[in-house]
Amino acid sequence: MTIKRYKITIVGAGHVGATTAQLCIYKRLGNVVLIDVVDGIPQGKALDMMESAPLESFDMNVKGTTDYADTKDSDIVVITAGLPRKPGMSREDLRDVNAEIVKSVSEQIAKYSPNCFLIVVSNPVDTMTEVARRYTKLPRERIVGMAGVLDSTRFRHFISLELGVSNVDITATVLGLHGEDMVPLPRYSSVAGIPITELISKEKIDDMVKRTQDGGAEIVKYLKTGSAYYAPASSVAAMIESIVRDKKRVMPCAARLQGEYGIKDIFMGVPCILGKQGVEKIIELKLMPDELAALQKSAAGVAKSVSQLKV
Ligand code: 2OP
Repeated sequence: MTIKRYKITIVGAGHVGATTAQLCIYKRLGNVVLIDVVDGIPQGKALDMMESAPLESFDMNVKGTTDYADTKDSDIVVITAGLPRKPGMSREDLRDVNAEIVKSVSEQIAKYSPNCFLIVVSNPVDTMTEVARRYTKLPRERIVGMAGVLDSTRFRHFISLELGVSNVDITATVLGLHGEDMVPLPRYSSVAGIPITELISKEKIDDMVKRTQDGGAEIVKYLKTGSAYYAPASSVAAMIESIVRDKKRVMPCAARLQGEYGIKDIFMGVPCILGKQGVEKIIELKLMPDELAALQKSAAGVAKSVSQLKV
């Protein structure tokens, strides 16, 4: 029997990239290549992680590099490269500078790993995933943006705080763009199968929805010098795990829509089944008119951002 060991490239050795690399090896998801333009950082962080191998008892490898040749034939690539937000900035403020970075990274990925599954994390993520698609030409089964898993894990945590119940019994659905116009769906969020609309007052739910929409900014405000990374990295690792272990988990991902929800040709958060084939299915939920209107507003925001791209 041959056991396949996945090759996972993480572009960007900052907080999100390095924490994702660490989770990938600690969860034994595959061998990791951590690449960055700043010589020394990926090599140093990779060596530091490898020195934890005897204590954490893993035999996965992490290689730090600045050379894309080392990423050749990766099964999975994660793009975290780009600038994070500072207090007072919106994700859109990063668009032009990060688009240039994501473009040049995508060209390298297309050259060395043309058949990979690509997860884009750089912000504004829905728009950056479109940039990556343009320069990798990956089919929609093989490219998504990471946001919905993060937004819904935040919503889950706030529900857990409100009800004083375990995080693990809570599921939550957050669709749409990764920004203030994201669409948390209380009707599709539950505690051990009980919709939260049965358990929490409308006012409290509205507060939690708002806190979820502002979840990234709340962390930026505390950190001041950058944005969140523990929950973003956990979100990416959960998506990778679903693919490499063919778990077929249902996770909201920024997928390229081709008519689903009446929306076409943009990436935006929708529930996807992630398995060894990548995005194996996009699930179309039945939405109430107000929910659908909120999703369409989200889509209009992504379309506007994409229309302003210079790459
Ligand atoms: C966040 O929401 C980084 O956009 C990311 O924290």
